[in-house]
Amino acid sequence: MSSNPLRDLFFGPDRRALVTAQVPRRTFSDVVLPPSTRRALDNALVQIRKHDVLFGQWGLGERHESGLGLAFNFAGPPGTGKTICAEAIAHTLGKPLLVVRYNELESQWAGATAKNVAAVFASAAEQDAVLFFDEADAIAGRRFTSVDQGYQREANAVVNVLLRELEDFPGVVIFATNLAANFDPAFERRIRTHILFEQPGPEEREKIWRVQIHHRKTPLAPDVDFGALAERYPASGGDIKNAVLKAAQMAIAEPGTDDEKRIAQHHFETGIQEVLAAKRVMDQSLFTGLMPGLAALSGTDGGVDDEVQALASRLVDVEDAVAALPDALSRREEAQLREAERSRDALAARQTEALDALRGGAAEAARTARLALWVACASAVVAAAGALSVLL
Ligand SMILES: Nc1ncnc2c1ncn2[C@@H]1O[C@H](COP(=O)(O)OP(=O)(O)OP(=O)(O)O)[C@@H](O)[C@H]1O
Ligand SMILES: [Mg+2]
Repeated sequence: MSSNPLRDLFFGPDRRALVTAQVPRRTFSDVVLPPSTRRALDNALVQIRKHDVLFGQWGLGERHESGLGLAFNFAGPPGTGKTICAEAIAHTLGKPLLVVRYNELESQWAGATAKNVAAVFASAAEQDAVLFFDEADAIAGRRFTSVDQGYQREANAVVNVLLRELEDFPGVVIFATNLAANFDPAFERRIRTHILFEQPGPEEREKIWRVQIHHRKTPLAPDVDFGALAERYPASGGDIKNAVLKAAQMAIAEPGTDDEKRIAQHHFETGIQEVLAAKRVMDQSLFTGLMPGLAALSGTDGGVDDEVQALASRLVDVEDAVAALPDALSRREEAQLREAERSRDALAARQTEALDALRGGAAEAARTARLALWVACASAVVAAAGALSVLL
């Protein structure tokens, strides 16, 4: 939506500009999916097609006034085909597709975002369009339990309106998200089916490589081997698309006449390697974004790489130390045991000494006593002898 702040100030935001539906061009033949995802999508299409029978002919619409809509959630990593499949569903149903992104709905005017949400539902109903909310976690995130800031009130109001509109909407709504865990639980209950978009395996990747080129017009060199590319590079459909475009740009930029130019295997190889390297850089910047300490280091010479390496080698040191811990502990226990034995022996020796000393002392005392006794006896004998001699 192109917004004009001055016009908005006087007349309020222009809600008509939010809601232009497009004619879907891509079909299920443009997308290669793992069998389970394909089955889930086929099942979704059956539900959509048989909806009128169930709720019209079978009378369920008369028994249930709300919750008649068909809401689906496409969840999965970026570039796995969620957007193409939304387009393909609209194409199969012969309906226009109304794509909505949160940043297009968000308004700086209090209460206006929620009104924009209501407006897109009204417009989709009017145009009989399939309504597609891209990056839906931004709009259907969990409500705040305590509301003391304006933005929290605003976010809760948006989810409440979304839930109400979803309840009343008679058509097909598709949500797409990379972060389904962020959804508000009440919102999740109103979704009829969650469809998981997984990363493609080697077999699907090979088909995706093929689907990304024009089978007749794109000039390929004879050495091109999509099977080998699929086997070697674990990439998403979005990555493969970008690699094919890069490869084609490289091939066309080479010298010579355009008629002679061909996209060769090395172009595709370089293309996919660059795409995957760029993705790793993005992952790393995400990582530094989450770790403010590391983000600061990324500006220094050597940058994050050096720091990550230093951290990695410290981690190895720590791991070695942890691995050596049981040995160190048993060595320490042994030393403690030996020390305890030494103290015990020293104590025992001192006890023996003390006992000996005690025994020695006792023997001495006994000897002294015996001597005193002997002296006493001798003097008694002498005295007796003296007395006897007097008597005699
Ligand atoms: N399964 C697939 N089969 C064929 N092409 C695919 C597939 N997945 C992705 N692509 C290619 O990658 C492009 C991006 O895919 P798409 O926009 O559908 O991904 P997405 O899942 O919606 O990603 P995001 O979460 O980033 O919005 C498509 O235009 C298509 O060319
Ligand atoms: Mg998408």
